[in-house]
Amino acid sequence: MKKPIGVFDSGIGGLTVLKELTKLLPNEDFVYFADTDNAPYGNKSKAKIVKRSDSIIKFLVSLDCKLIVVACNTATAAAVNVMRKKYKLPIVGLEPAVKPACLQTKTKHIGVLATKGTFRGNHFKNTSEKYKDNVEIHLQVAKGLVELAENGVFEGEKLNKLLNRYILPMKNANVDQLVLGCTHYPLFYEAMLPITGNTITILESGEAVARRTKDVLIRNKMMNSVKNTQKLSFYASKDTKAINNVVDKLFKIGKIKFKVEILKQI
Ligand code: DGL
Repeated sequence: MKKPIGVFDSGIGGLTVLKELTKLLPNEDFVYFADTDNAPYGNKSKAKIVKRSDSIIKFLVSLDCKLIVVACNTATAAAVNVMRKKYKLPIVGLEPAVKPACLQTKTKHIGVLATKGTFRGNHFKNTSEKYKDNVEIHLQVAKGLVELAENGVFEGEKLNKLLNRYILPMKNANVDQLVLGCTHYPLFYEAMLPITGNTITILESGEAVARRTKDVLIRNKMMNSVKNTQKLSFYASKDTKAINNVVDKLFKIGKIKFKVEILKQI
């Protein structure tokens, strides 16, 4: 089926997921929507995030998308169940990689960095509940990181200070798996390495979501079977320097302009 896949996030974080999707599904076209004008979602109410997700999915459906990937842990936690009831097309959500971290940990301590909204969600609560008898799960709301990413700050003193504040206590508590429970955080991977060193493994969800998306496409007979030169389209509710730079860095397609769409609130 030669229709595009819609992918969205509060901003640039979901581009880390899009990257994995494009690698695993080279014959598929993608439309990405960054809700930059409303980022971050982390501290917003569930009702607000549901409304934004609804407006964005409606827009992606109007562009004939056949499947939606919610490339945002916070929006998945707040809105995915409601959206699945409202829309007929398959919607793939995202959740922090708590399960693999709990299965892999040797020290029986794992750390999770995420937004307040993600920790509040049932997906996270249910998975943590399942493993918490055997593994101690150290939670940290990583306030301020999404804002830095949206402003294009991926190195420097301000970032290092926040990363140290959030990760060092986990390291001292013997954490050996660090789950990045927000799709923006993999953009800080390099900056995290000097802190995590070789004692902590960093886990993100991009690859797993791409595999899940492929499964859903196959199950729904929606894969594009014809050889295709992959087409990527980028939309945002506000154009920013950071989104253009990150697209260039991740996809090596030069500094493209996002098409700006101010979506009406549903
Ligand atoms: N990238 C998002 C997530 O995975 C959004 C975080 C935010 O906007 O606060 O949760």
